[in-house]
Amino acid sequence: MIDIIENEYELLSVGEIVKKIPRAASVFSELKIDFCCGGKIKFADACLKKGLNPDDVWKQINSIRKNGNISIDLDFDSFEIDFLADYIYNIHHRYLYDKLPMLTQLVNKVYHKHQEKYVYLTELFGLYTELEADLLGHLPKEEQIMFPYAKNLLTHKKANTTPERPFFGTINNPLSVMNDEHNRAGEIIHRLREITNDYTPPADACNSHLVMIEMLKDLDANLIQHIHLENNILFPKIVLLEESIFGKN
Ligand SMILES: [Fe+2]
Ligand SMILES: [Fe+2]
Repeated sequence: MIDIIENEYELLSVGEIVKKIPRAASVFSELKIDFCCGGKIKFADACLKKGLNPDDVWKQINSIRKNGNISIDLDFDSFEIDFLADYIYNIHHRYLYDKLPMLTQLVNKVYHKHQEKYVYLTELFGLYTELEADLLGHLPKEEQIMFPYAKNLLTHKKANTTPERPFFGTINNPLSVMNDEHNRAGEIIHRLREITNDYTPPADACNSHLVMIEMLKDLDANLIQHIHLENNILFPKIVLLEESIFGKN
């Protein structure tokens, strides 16, 4: 993990920042800050020259850094449906299967030990418990219905053959259930952010409490990207593919 002390960044050049944090390049490109040939300019000066507040720009860079170890700068829209579904399963579903058991243990432990000292733990426990149950019910529906259906459509499309109509009629039916479940998960994540003050642990939190907050923060970043990939990229692609085969519903 690359570390730049919070106040140190203003002294670094734009080029040095991109060297330490490669993903900062996408923020600079968007803001039209030259990090290549003009990269020797100090970060704060480069921002001011563009009329931007260096603190705000730094926050943007940080929000990318804090997305844990998931890639958010791949060209997901160019992925074929089958590859994207496999990507989502391998990077996002397996992440949940791997992390949720430990996180559940921690949430239970911290809640039962410290609920009286930290009032917010009662709501956190309720929200997390709901989210975990929802996710463990949600993922198999995608893995057993949505993803195989999408892959089958793609295979038929490539072979120029027509698949049978699925038992659920059209993808729009399971899709509306998935959307509702995503919306609820998004609401829970937003509420978790609020009650944890953006995942800031109490100053005197014990180690389990600290790890719990860190893992929730990581879960947030992973889940938000996961839902984005499904809602905005994969599911619309499946709808279009289905329409191209069966016609518009
Ligand atoms: Fe998913
Ligand atoms: Fe989903």
